[in-house]
Amino acid sequence: MKRMMTAAAVCGILFSACGGGDDIADRQAAEQRAETAAKELVGTLLGEVQRAMKAGGPAAAVRTCAEKAQPLTDKVAGAHGVTLRRVTDRARNPLDTPDTYEAAVLSRFQEMADAGTLETGTLHSEVVAMDGRKALRYMKPITIKKPCLACHAPAESLKPDVRDAIAEQYPDDQATGYAAGDLRGAISVIVPLEREQ
Ligand code: HEC
Repeated sequence: MKRMMTAAAVCGILFSACGGGDDIADRQAAEQRAETAAKELVGTLLGEVQRAMKAGGPAAAVRTCAEKAQPLTDKVAGAHGVTLRRVTDRARNPLDTPDTYEAAVLSRFQEMADAGTLETGTLHSEVVAMDGRKALRYMKPITIKKPCLACHAPAESLKPDVRDAIAEQYPDDQATGYAAGDLRGAISVIVPLEREQ
């Protein structure tokens, strides 16, 4: 069901927004670039958090994340020439608040999660006009796994030192209360398809 929806959405966009074969090739290359950047971001952040947890436990890892998550994200974005963010409807870092477009896609992902149709391969990909130029908007869901609960479980089940570290770094934190399998947010990538004039 989900696969069909995704395929239909992709084809619709392909034929309406893309004229010829070159456009289709550009789009495929852009999707590849988005996917590579998203994968690299996940690997980079996961590696960093695992190292920090091993070295100093989860409370210390919260501080490492606070210091490094955004700069590392920007670094991966720069390396691939894309705009790259993690977005969520319940932000820990307010910089991860979705724009209108991202919020709409996130709520569609949430509907799929509620219906049990969100899968590992689920993604959103659409060619849009941004500031008068074509760009690919690509989003990939992020779900909560067991190890994530050390810092994203319901506040009352977090270790006190983790809770304190979060409160100290993120006074407006909304990113607790999750269970394994929950949708946490998405990686959002924007790939320019036309150069600036
Ligand atoms: C050691 C604690 C810790 C663990 C474990 C952890 N996170 Fe986080 N998470 C954080 C912190 C701190 C931030 C805010 C980082 C920042 O300032 O950009 C964050 C931010 C995020 C964001 C960005 C959205 C937001 O709310 O700012 C997502 C998505 C996310 N985490 C998902 C996960 C997933 C999925 C896992 C498990 C694979 C996980 N986290 C494990 C501490 C943790």
